[in-house]
Amino acid sequence: MMEYDFELGKSAKTLVEDILEVKEGDNVVITADTKSNEAVVKATAAEVFSAGGKPMVVWNATPLGVGKAADDMLPLKTLTGALKDADVWIEYNEQWLLYSTVYDRVIESSDDIRYICLVEMNPDMMVRTIGRVDMPKLAKFLKIMAEETGDAKKVKVTTPAGTDLEFENHPERHMIVHSGDIMRGKASMLPGQISWSPKFESINGTLVFDGSLVPPIGLLDNPIKLTVEKGKVIKIEGGREAQQFEKWLASFDDERMYYLAHISYGFNPGAKLTGNIVEDERIWGGTEWGLGNVGSKLVPEQEGGIEAASHCDGICSNSSVWLDGKQIMDKGKIVNHEELEKLEKELI
Ligand SMILES: [Fe+2]
Repeated sequence: MMEYDFELGKSAKTLVEDILEVKEGDNVVITADTKSNEAVVKATAAEVFSAGGKPMVVWNATPLGVGKAADDMLPLKTLTGALKDADVWIEYNEQWLLYSTVYDRVIESSDDIRYICLVEMNPDMMVRTIGRVDMPKLAKFLKIMAEETGDAKKVKVTTPAGTDLEFENHPERHMIVHSGDIMRGKASMLPGQISWSPKFESINGTLVFDGSLVPPIGLLDNPIKLTVEKGKVIKIEGGREAQQFEKWLASFDDERMYYLAHISYGFNPGAKLTGNIVEDERIWGGTEWGLGNVGSKLVPEQEGGIEAASHCDGICSNSSVWLDGKQIMDKGKIVNHEELEKLEKELI
């Protein structure tokens, strides 16, 4: 029997009905490449059909890169044609189309498309991170957490591995919440994450990645310690991986690669550390920092975002967080907030 043969349908049903809200007659395109998980694609198409939607699956050869790096290897005209009038687009491509020219053209031509990017999805991950999650409850939790955090002026984050960082929030920058409430005409991601960009020049302290760092490494055997001054990494310490990371950053010959780009909270009850960053960055109670390129959604006051040669994300497990001096998380668990504590207990 195939892994999770019985449970996968339930997970696809949650995705199709609760997250994407597929209705009678919706044109639903599922994209995949030759490395995508066939069982996941088929289960999703079947649930789209059950919900009264019209599924169409488009497979392409796996490109050698992601986003715009995949452009030359993608069937640009036919793929764009298949997607631009879709009501719903579910992306399972391993080498993702997100931010490719195909994606840009599809999003430009439709401001109400319901799109979700689910890179590297497999039955085990789908059952844990979607099928077994109470999505409405998670959405409620994330909304409150985003409001509480966004309302704070000063934030402090520590972890048992040695992170000790302080920063100020930026009044014009929003919290980006991936809650399972699908956004229209925008990229939605696997539920269970909140991201935002603080005032970069206010970020000071020590940042210790102890989970994974993608790219260039994956799962970390030894922590990497970064010293951050005014939002910039000025020192990298640790073992073999720290040296590898230092070389990778230097290889771009781009000063912007040393600047922090965003912080994210991870809050998906089923996520576990696997080396797949989509899942790692959603581990309950973790924080993640991105370095390098900053997308325009994170810094709406700066048109086109902040360009850098690349972007990477590192995970800090079991975070403690203080909002304007009041602690809200202690080693990955909510404290001092009755409603969030109750929801957390029910979710995990
Ligand atoms: Fe990132």
